[in-house]
Amino acid sequence: SRKIIIDTDPGQDDALAILMALASPELDVLGITAVAGNIPLALTSINIRKVCEVANRRDVKVFAGCARPMVRKLFTAEYIHGATGLDGYDLPEPEMPLQAMDGVDFIIETLRAEEPGSVTLCTLGPLTNIGTALSRAPDIAARVKEIVLMGGGCFEGGNVTPSAEFNIYVDPEAAEIVFTAGMPIVMLPLDATHKVLTTGARIAAMRALGTRTGEVAAGWLEFFERFDERKYGTDGGPLHDPNVIAYLLEPQLYGGRFCNVEIETGSALTVGETVVDWWGVTDRPANALFLRDVDAEGFFALLTERLARL
Ligand code: BDR
Ligand code: CA
Repeated sequence: SRKIIIDTDPGQDDALAILMALASPELDVLGITAVAGNIPLALTSINIRKVCEVANRRDVKVFAGCARPMVRKLFTAEYIHGATGLDGYDLPEPEMPLQAMDGVDFIIETLRAEEPGSVTLCTLGPLTNIGTALSRAPDIAARVKEIVLMGGGCFEGGNVTPSAEFNIYVDPEAAEIVFTAGMPIVMLPLDATHKVLTTGARIAAMRALGTRTGEVAAGWLEFFERFDERKYGTDGGPLHDPNVIAYLLEPQLYGGRFCNVEIETGSALTVGETVVDWWGVTDRPANALFLRDVDAEGFFALLTERLARL
């Protein structure tokens, strides 16, 4: 099975991505690192463990990484995820431990210890932990198999500012380090995730599993981003982070193009924008696979089938 490290800031959609990964024998979750993002680090490092316990996986190693972005002040999103980050279903406080090792050290040490080219980084939040690891230990870039990240956008615009997506906006300096490090990059941007809508029927299918996990997932999704129904006029809000795991399991659900992607860090107006050369109008080399298309029915069938295993 494929070795992965999940770096995350749960968040209801992060939580579903974690459950999906833990339900999948194709993936070997070496560890999960918490980052500050949707909510502060103290809460994300608790929420990851709550989610592992939903999956009955107290054996998973969970680490706390960076509490704030590399340069900027932390910007959080309680307005989307609620005060706990996991509003929508109340879970007990976790009993499993947080590892003593720092999350950034875990990322560096794991990449140095494992076979080069064998570890995939799956990032579901701001890129602070990865950017910090790369700046402290530049040798790890060559050892990463690939980084599959939820973040950015092109034709779809932004969800925090007109041009910036949340994960990139929160720590654009870290994103710039990641995008210039030379690692293979796969992006799940808003262009894809805004096509993956949590319709009433899809949530009902999770509840119909008749399991606690199905009930928890449905509760989260009834809370999460449903206000976007009003914003976008669609049935259901977009579901972002589980696309990273779905891509690892069934890449044929996604379509896109290799292109050059650079991060805006200067302009006050467009900071955090991913500047995607989709049409190849520059001679800047391609550095990322930008996934724009997704089979949403296939995605939800996969997600629901994996949740049914827990
Ligand atoms: C991203 O921002 C967060 O609110 C979600 O968890 C997702 O990772 C979407 O822009
Ligand atoms: Ca997230």
